[in-house]
Amino acid sequence: MRRILILLAAVSALSARAQVPDWENPAVLGINKLPYHATLQLPSREKECEEIMSLDGQWRFHWSRNPEERPADFYREDYDVSRWGTITVPGNWQTQGYGTPIYININYPFRRDRPSVTSEPPRDWTAYENRNPVGSYVTFVDVTKEMLGKNLILHFGGVHSAMYVWVNGQKVGYSQNSMSPAEFDVTGYLRAGRNRLAVEVYRWSDGSYLEDQDMWRLSGIFRPVQLWVRPLAHIADYRVTAEPDAGYGRASVKACVFVCNTGGKTEKNLQAVLLLDGKETAGSVKRLAAGDTTLVELNCELRNPKLWSAEKPNLYPFSVELRDGKGRVVEHFDYHLGVKKVEVAGEVFKINGKNVKLRGVNRHDHHPRTGRYVDDATYEEDIRLMKQANINFLRTSHYPDREYLYELCDRWGLYVMDEANQESHGYGYANHEMGEDPAWEKAHADRAESLVKRDFNHPCVILWSLGNEGGVGPNIKAMYDKVLELDSTRPPFYDSDRRYSCIWDDSYLYPDQLRDAARKVTDKPFMMREYAHAMGNSGGNLQEYWDVIYADSTIVGAAVWDWVDQGLEKDGHYAYGGDFGDRPNDGNFCINGLVGPDRTPHPHYYEVQHVYQPLQFVLEGDELRIVNRDYFTEVEEYEIVRDTVHIDDETLLNVSARLRHDTPWAPAGFVVAREQFVLIPTAFRPSFAGGSVRAERMEDGVIVKTERGSVTIDPAGALCSWVNDGQEMLRAPLEPYFWKPENDNQRAAHFAQRLAVWEEAAAKREVKAVHLEEAEGFCRVSFEMSLPVGADLVLNYCIGGGDIRVEMDYRPVATDIPLIPKFGMRMRIPADYTRIRYYGRGPWENYPDRKLSAFLGVYEMPLADFETEYIRPQDNGNRCDVRWFEAASDGGKLRIEGLQPLCIRAWDYGEEDLATAAHPDELKRGDFVNLNIDLDIHGVGGTDTWGRRTLPQYTIDGNRPHAYGFILRAGGE
Ligand code: GAL
Ligand code: MG
Repeated sequence: MRRILILLAAVSALSARAQVPDWENPAVLGINKLPYHATLQLPSREKECEEIMSLDGQWRFHWSRNPEERPADFYREDYDVSRWGTITVPGNWQTQGYGTPIYININYPFRRDRPSVTSEPPRDWTAYENRNPVGSYVTFVDVTKEMLGKNLILHFGGVHSAMYVWVNGQKVGYSQNSMSPAEFDVTGYLRAGRNRLAVEVYRWSDGSYLEDQDMWRLSGIFRPVQLWVRPLAHIADYRVTAEPDAGYGRASVKACVFVCNTGGKTEKNLQAVLLLDGKETAGSVKRLAAGDTTLVELNCELRNPKLWSAEKPNLYPFSVELRDGKGRVVEHFDYHLGVKKVEVAGEVFKINGKNVKLRGVNRHDHHPRTGRYVDDATYEEDIRLMKQANINFLRTSHYPDREYLYELCDRWGLYVMDEANQESHGYGYANHEMGEDPAWEKAHADRAESLVKRDFNHPCVILWSLGNEGGVGPNIKAMYDKVLELDSTRPPFYDSDRRYSCIWDDSYLYPDQLRDAARKVTDKPFMMREYAHAMGNSGGNLQEYWDVIYADSTIVGAAVWDWVDQGLEKDGHYAYGGDFGDRPNDGNFCINGLVGPDRTPHPHYYEVQHVYQPLQFVLEGDELRIVNRDYFTEVEEYEIVRDTVHIDDETLLNVSARLRHDTPWAPAGFVVAREQFVLIPTAFRPSFAGGSVRAERMEDGVIVKTERGSVTIDPAGALCSWVNDGQEMLRAPLEPYFWKPENDNQRAAHFAQRLAVWEEAAAKREVKAVHLEEAEGFCRVSFEMSLPVGADLVLNYCIGGGDIRVEMDYRPVATDIPLIPKFGMRMRIPADYTRIRYYGRGPWENYPDRKLSAFLGVYEMPLADFETEYIRPQDNGNRCDVRWFEAASDGGKLRIEGLQPLCIRAWDYGEEDLATAAHPDELKRGDFVNLNIDLDIHGVGGTDTWGRRTLPQYTIDGNRPHAYGFILRAGGE
């Protein structure tokens, strides 16, 4: 090994002569860096490992906005850092008050001019003043005499983006490739007593040209730092495979153990041992010369192995040991293996011989306070929530995450596409610049090597991804070859150059495009590595996707973009691009999660949970048929519960499948699948109470005196006053209203421009005739109107004792009327009517194209919970199929009963507030309760947020008639 180091040093000496800094030289990926290797000890058991000393904690820190201003000699032993501030390691410096976080999607945050990252950008860019910020870190490490007799290795879990390391004033080395570990042998640098470790981190480096992922651009030592105190002869690496034979009756286990001798004299009679399933398999190393590394191959067999899958994550714990000539244990590591087989058989992707479907999600490593450092508890929360949502596939977009995440996936069961830290999107999707330039080949291959070598032993990994939105050409081939060279058990995947992918990817298609595209590809399985762009209020038409996926055995599956909203905490809200003054930026395009930054599930999380459920229920007469979408679990393993519910005149059947036993991610009884059937539907015949009423035509409309008060309808057909028992119910009139604010998907699809005629359509209505009819117990006021879009509208108010029946009938005359954003009416009631109770779909927000997970029921909640707070305020809070709805205050109650199912939205702010607020805390709240009472509303959409639209079946055709009605009642039942 020493020899290798010397060689590396020689190479770097050559490049130093070229006068470009290492961090702008793609030929220099590291100096004195040790080879990559597998995670040696299971992350959860690192604490038990005596070899590991954590260096995490408070370090001294200095931030400079560019390399010229950095304290260049800070690494010296006599440099005084006592007045410097401190920083928490691991962590990003931008989330600890230094420099500016930048959120940008495709473009590089610095001027694109490879390999330079310091060329002059436009003046208004963050990178103009802060050309390439440098973080200088210092910490002190105590070393004992005893430790000095060992091999001492400095381990960095992840440093963004490039660093130099010094120990006691002596330069140790350099590294880039920010999402993979970097290790240095510091044996010769440390001394007994206090040692000074200095690390200089550059925000950007030539490596940044391959790290152009759509995310917050954050810097620093963001993953743990350790000092490994290792025996002179030790296990440098080990790779374990456990492949089942054709009949799955046996698995051959092969452990390749690399043993090295870092000491000064030859080691004799070493033994590498694999302890598995109560058995020992040993291989001996007769002689290992100083500085040498050797490979010991250990083979054994498991009979009738329990297979590993995401459904049944059966693991075999094992240990790898190194023993000396006297049989004493020199080193011992604990890990686990899973027996499984991944195959691409023609067009079909198989795991353990089955055509499993990957119900996936993409995830960025993100925490709202610690940025790119995500702690163990948050990892557990994420994987727990994924398992609960029936997700079985995780793509670690777009780089390797911290090691513990993979252990959780092994143990709790998630298939993982482990992705290399390679994206050069700033040069374009599938670009030739980065893919073909030979100067960048090594940098590409390095990223594949570091990926596979670190995570090799995780059974959860089923696919190695070469990156995302990067180049095409030989540099990608180099990555591909590297993966194949290192691992024959899990194939490579890549989106941008399909020659180097075992699966054909085409992302963000509409469901029918997916069906057609998958049919056209005949030489590989098909998948959407990204789909269902979950930005803001989204998640529509998910079932449509899965109808297509389940119907085609060549479609492997699809992964939602993405898991968590990348909001950063700032001034009491979640910040997105631009909120830190970062320029250029891509605004809220980083807010695409199924869960919020604090991991609170969004409404569309539950839709994913439902559509991804392993069991589907079909009611055929009285018979319940269950379709099992899983392969390694029987229906009988769940408890199936049938529950008949009667609400008003309606009878519902709720069916659920529950866990019989506790799992690490949910307790026994947890519902993994459910469905609802309406056995006896409601007739929608709400009662209407008549009473003695008296109507009077006035100049400003019609006033109807009831037993409880009065109702006033203005000449434009707006119900502008409604007095009940002395209380005015309205803060703004009840009147036709066809507009709704955009959500993010709609904004991107130019909804407001396309449907603009509807914004003022109701306000610009023209009344052609008014009819007043008085009868026994009620009176009727009707308006014949026309809308400027080219349609007639008839509006009817029938006023009885205290009830008002409202009916609206729309007839198009023109034939080219745009889609109607929503069909219905709006009113505003007093601000204290915030206690909501309703019978409809819930409890969470639902829209016509995203309501399968929201079952019918009677739900009760404060208005604050009825609304959904999106990080960028937008249309929200709808409930579909509402039979009745109540809003109550301490003193009164408003009840709405549908003559057919209703869509209802209620907010403590208005449409105009939503349209202007950039963050929830800017909404002007509490002046009224804004109520939209609709027949229908435009679906949220669920394909992408750069132009694709809500599916036609979830929109409202303006060229067809629509009619609906409801009853309004104030006061008691
Ligand atoms: C994808 C890309 C992701 C993200 C997404 C949009 O094409 O791979 O990284 O940018 O678009 O949110
Ligand atoms: Mg991108």
